[in-house]
Amino acid sequence: MSSTIRFERVGAHTHIRGLGVVDGKVQFNAQGMVGQVKAREAAYIVVQMIRKGLMAGRAILLAGPPGTGKTAIAVAIARELGRDVPFISMSGSEIYSTELKKTEVLMRAIRKAIGVKIRDMREVIEGEIKKMEIKMSPHPYNPYQQVPQEIKLTLVTTEEERTFTAGTSVALSFIQQGIKEGDVIMIDRETAKVVKLGRSKEVPSPYEIEGETIVERPRGPIIKEKEFVYVMTLHDLDLREARGGSIFGLFFGRGEEEISSETRKSVDEWVRKMVDDGTAEIIPGVLFIDEVHMLDIEAYAFLNRALESEMAPIIIFASNRGIAQIRGTELESPHGIPMDLLDRLLIIPTDPYNKEEMREIIKIRMKEEKLEMDEDAFEYLLDLAVRNSLRYAIMLMGPIKEITLKNRRVKATLEDVKEASKLFIDYKTSSEILKDYEKLFLK
Ligand SMILES: Nc1ncnc2c1ncn2[C@@H]1O[C@H](COP(=O)(O)OP(=O)(O)OP(=O)(O)O)[C@@H](O)[C@H]1O
Ligand SMILES: [Mg+2]
Repeated sequence: MSSTIRFERVGAHTHIRGLGVVDGKVQFNAQGMVGQVKAREAAYIVVQMIRKGLMAGRAILLAGPPGTGKTAIAVAIARELGRDVPFISMSGSEIYSTELKKTEVLMRAIRKAIGVKIRDMREVIEGEIKKMEIKMSPHPYNPYQQVPQEIKLTLVTTEEERTFTAGTSVALSFIQQGIKEGDVIMIDRETAKVVKLGRSKEVPSPYEIEGETIVERPRGPIIKEKEFVYVMTLHDLDLREARGGSIFGLFFGRGEEEISSETRKSVDEWVRKMVDDGTAEIIPGVLFIDEVHMLDIEAYAFLNRALESEMAPIIIFASNRGIAQIRGTELESPHGIPMDLLDRLLIIPTDPYNKEEMREIIKIRMKEEKLEMDEDAFEYLLDLAVRNSLRYAIMLMGPIKEITLKNRRVKATLEDVKEASKLFIDYKTSSEILKDYEKLFLK
């Protein structure tokens, strides 16, 4: 179940590239977005507030019937904010994990949604390899096997030439990466980590076809200070801290290990210090919680507190429920959200689409999925969207494509669409059929 939810959330929105704003005005049809203009205008204002840092401690609720583009708008907000801004998407039901406590799931999500841009000055050795010799010697435990013992390296830049020697581990990493003369490399002096940057333009490869990046011969001195900028999330830093402070530990972790509150506290202190020194910058991202009515009172209390902390992401909720019970209580409230949280929310409503809007959205999706259809087939699919749901029509495109292929056609016909809609029914029909079966059983 969770994998289909995830698929829907990512796969179904690939056509969305932004909120569709040109010169400050929301266009009816732009960047993959169609209609829902008022909600998109509101979302655009939110984006500007986020950029100006005016959204701290606030949250947004996208409220509207199923299939009216709530998730689509959240994805568009993320696209507008750009790649460096973390965007984490989860469903309210994900807090009921078997391995972690509910508040721990939320804590992790929140910390994944806060980015830290770190500037790091490092001393590196950078140059084009003019000459390279690896000395091999017999393995201490197995004399029939040769192991690299030492590497002697002559590097050049446009300005100088220098020779270095290094031990086994550096030699090994040269061999493993297949680094050869004429390559441009960089070595971090502190960690001795070797990175191949590409093939030097000055030394053409002896092969005609080789999928390598061609780079310029480096300029300036061979040993130099270089600035590196990386964006990590607070959660990445928590994991690094929990695993003993090594960035490389990140790749060897078990994934779900405990992160103590002391770990988080020391990460927060470290980050604050870096921010004060001017070597780091905090980038509050977006935490999108879909199907918010699945959260319970404990989760709401936690989120309320989290919104008040100084390092908080922007939280966007989505709900397709009207008045609903607040989980974990006997109380009812709008969208199943407690009043104290409702008070903090800016609510953006989404309205049902008309046929023409659905027509445009389906066209965009067809282009995205490279699906072609006869005119009558398209009208039939559009009717399915109007009668059942837009989501259903969009989900059906995958099967339609398969069926068209199976029938050895490049363009789907009315028959193909009908076949798909018979094999895969929408949830309303499905529940009605089951109701009929129940009647049979009760007789
Ligand atoms: N305005 C729009 N422009 C382009 N595509 C849209 C638009 N609105 C919705 N879509 C697409 O239609 C499909 C259904 O929309 P979406 O999943 O965003 O609805 P939702 O409001 O989140 O529904 P639910 O309440 O069931 O979660 C998705 O594939 C989405 O990308
Ligand atoms: Mg949704």
